Amino acid sequence: MIKIGTPLSPTATRVMLLGAGELGKEVIIALQRLGVEVIAVDRYENAPGHQVAHRSYTIDMADPDALRSVVDKEQPQLIVPEIEAIATDELLKIEAEGRSKVIPVARATRLTMNREGIRRLAAEELQLPTSGYIFADSYDELQAGAKRIGYPCIIKPVMSSSGKGQSMATNEDELHRAWNYAMEGGRVNRGRVILEEKIDFDYEITLLTVRSNDAEGEIVTSYCEPIGHRQEEGDYVESWQPQQMSEAALTRSKEIASAITSELGGCGIFGVELFIKGDKVWFSEVSPRPHDTGMVTMVTQYQNEFELHARAILGLPVNTVMHATGASAVIYGGLDSKSTEFSNLAAALADPDTDLRLFGKPESFVRRRMGVALARAENTDAARKKAKKAADTVKTSG
Ligand SMILES: Nc1ncnc2c1ncn2[C@@H]1O[C@H](COP(=O)(O)OP(=O)(O)OP(=O)(O)O)[C@@H](O)[C@H]1O
Ligand SMILES: [Mg+2]
Repeated sequence: MIKIGTPLSPTATRVMLLGAGELGKEVIIALQRLGVEVIAVDRYENAPGHQVAHRSYTIDMADPDALRSVVDKEQPQLIVPEIEAIATDELLKIEAEGRSKVIPVARATRLTMNREGIRRLAAEELQLPTSGYIFADSYDELQAGAKRIGYPCIIKPVMSSSGKGQSMATNEDELHRAWNYAMEGGRVNRGRVILEEKIDFDYEITLLTVRSNDAEGEIVTSYCEPIGHRQEEGDYVESWQPQQMSEAALTRSKEIASAITSELGGCGIFGVELFIKGDKVWFSEVSPRPHDTGMVTMVTQYQNEFELHARAILGLPVNTVMHATGASAVIYGGLDSKSTEFSNLAAALADPDTDLRLFGKPESFVRRRMGVALARAENTDAARKKAKKAADTVKTSG
């Protein structure tokens, strides 16, 4: 039986978020609403999630000793990774000691922090369809690989996210540039890259997939309506729900999502990224946590992706039903500043079916995601227009 205690008392149900950005912040709010005591950890002070948690820490989460010391101090029942760059070997040890549970399981965080782990699992063990790929540790290996995979191809550091260090090459000259770019952009400079065949997809989706206990305590898998999205330089700029799909492509997408998430295991939400062409579906990657493109669910679902994650990790049943068609559009900083001000907000929210999230990040950069505009409408095209207009209407200064 699931019990939730009293926060800040000996019976408290304590959850530690590793990563407290805009996605972590919403997970924290969802947990707080269920009376959970929440500890937020991030690499910089006053991160969005720090501002809404019971306690907060600023540490290098990739440092195993630093990670161990906050876990020992707080002894959370659940540890919820929000980012990839974490000392996941230490998480495996912590999980094995049995005092804290890692969400969804430590192995999933370890496999997904490195493109190689999850790609080999999906393509080689589970035989899921993916783009052709090779891994390379040097420019020579990359060049040889490109001969096999062909052009255009996409080069990514094995450890990076949000499109960092990622670029496309259409010939050998560009391949050299892409190699150098990947070497600069990788999160941990290991000098290893993945080269992927470029898939000529019609559209791409995130299939939010939830593994949760039903009322009888059995693990069940449920799916949100597919989320379509548009990426610029490997980073999401707008998303919408539902993405129209053929029956066959949706069925195949669910099969792929089911295969990968049941292999990873545990409870929680997963963002399964898929490429679609006609009825054909390719697996791209998976986040064992809420997904940035899923922010749209804050205006489209009875339980948004953060609430679904909160419920699932606590062992509670979920409901993935959509109540409206909607879209999200990213609001960028537009300038470098430590005292950004957002204005023209009333105009941005003039339409009654629009909404806004300003993340409260302490420092803005030109291309840093600082907020998101959300909109509902009768169809996704109208919702996208509305969300984009609201995002563009917000002015930043500082
Ligand atoms: N093999 C491919 N073929 C076609 N497009 C691709 C391919 N790989 C990546 N892309 C495009 O680049 C985007 C980002 O790629 P990917 O998801 O691998 O990077 P990422 O750094 O993990 O991004 P994020 O962390 O934001 O999910 C994809 O959503 C897709 O639009
Ligand atoms: Mg991605």
